[in-house]
Amino acid sequence: MNALPPDFPHDTIWASLPVPAFLIDPLDRIADINPAAEQFLNTSSRMLKDAPFLDRLAVDAPLDQAFARVRADQSVMFINTVDVSGGNAAPVQCDMQVAPVIRQDGWLLVLMEPRQIAGRLGRAQAVKSSARSAIGMAEMLAHEIKNPLAGITGAAQLLSMGLTPDDQELTDLIVAESRRIVALLDQVEQFGNLRPPERRAVNIHDLLDRARKSAMVGFAANMRITEEFDPSLPPTWVDGDQMLQVFLNLLKNAAEAAGKGGGTIRLRTFYDLSLRLRRKDGSGNPLPLQVEIIDDGPGIRPEILPDIFEPFVSGRENGTGLGLALVSKIISDHDGWISVDSVPGRTVFRLSLPIAPRDRGPRADTGDPAK
Ligand SMILES: Nc1ncnc2c1ncn2[C@@H]1O[C@H](COP(=O)(O)OP(=O)(O)O)[C@@H](O)[C@H]1O
Ligand SMILES: [Mg+2]
Repeated sequence: MNALPPDFPHDTIWASLPVPAFLIDPLDRIADINPAAEQFLNTSSRMLKDAPFLDRLAVDAPLDQAFARVRADQSVMFINTVDVSGGNAAPVQCDMQVAPVIRQDGWLLVLMEPRQIAGRLGRAQAVKSSARSAIGMAEMLAHEIKNPLAGITGAAQLLSMGLTPDDQELTDLIVAESRRIVALLDQVEQFGNLRPPERRAVNIHDLLDRARKSAMVGFAANMRITEEFDPSLPPTWVDGDQMLQVFLNLLKNAAEAAGKGGGTIRLRTFYDLSLRLRRKDGSGNPLPLQVEIIDDGPGIRPEILPDIFEPFVSGRENGTGLGLALVSKIISDHDGWISVDSVPGRTVFRLSLPIAPRDRGPRADTGDPAK
């Protein structure tokens, strides 16, 4: 991620937010509203400045309690399907989020997303018409489960307010487990959002380097990642964004396997002309570009190794088992190949990829007769 330039105007972020947003001061007064909120309420921010939020907006939920709770817990609260009206306008059904403002004691951020029936229908139809069968259904289901789940979480948070610490443990459990389900559903949605690859001639080393850098500032901060690249490799023929996702998933697994102690990951590329993917129709697709991601962690548990690319196969307590399933789907969409070899101390994931057609790569105008 690039750092923001020092003179970046932060108020443009506020102005660009596509959902109505309210900044609330410690006394529940409206300190600011963004342009989307002005539009939503059909008023100007000046008209509402310093007005008590709960007087100006009619919301059919115990918002005062919700505010108190968010201030006490410093965690975000979701309140789903509430009717909101400001002034004389007819009430609109919204999903709300109330978030504490970081390092500003007592300040809150309220976001409202109007629920639009038309928008929801549109989405369902798009999925249907693209006939993405089972995975389309799963994505839709994931999307539909997340809404009521956010409602359950919000209700549990409201409920917990009057409870004894013992009983609060139970509502906390509801909240924590709901968050886990949301994380799982997010990954299911990733599958559904997978488009057919948009292939371009791509320098694989640039991609690997981007994956390495982004891993090093995040989940792999305690790892050493080395590069052993064959600089003479021609460009590969892939969807760069999807391939980046592949590398990140593999790096993440290696970092998670290594644990807190850290370890070393080697990124290796080389040429191997012997590999060819045979299709059902007998045609063969050469896959000469090899990328290996090698770690020195404990290795993949032998009992799950044969099924490692199947969805929901995980060897970790909080794993979803979807990381490698997504990797394998992306690679097969590219007509590529992935294999794994693992013993304690050495786990190798090898990707075999096609090279870009000659007339599409950066070498197109070197004098070769192009089509
Ligand atoms: N580099 C690795 N070293 C050891 N185990 C691994 C490695 N990569 C994957 N695994 C095992 O494979 C399982 C499945 O991985 P994945 O599909 O990404 O799902 P998740 O990470 O959610 O468990 C992991 O839970 C882990 O047990
Ligand atoms: Mg994983």
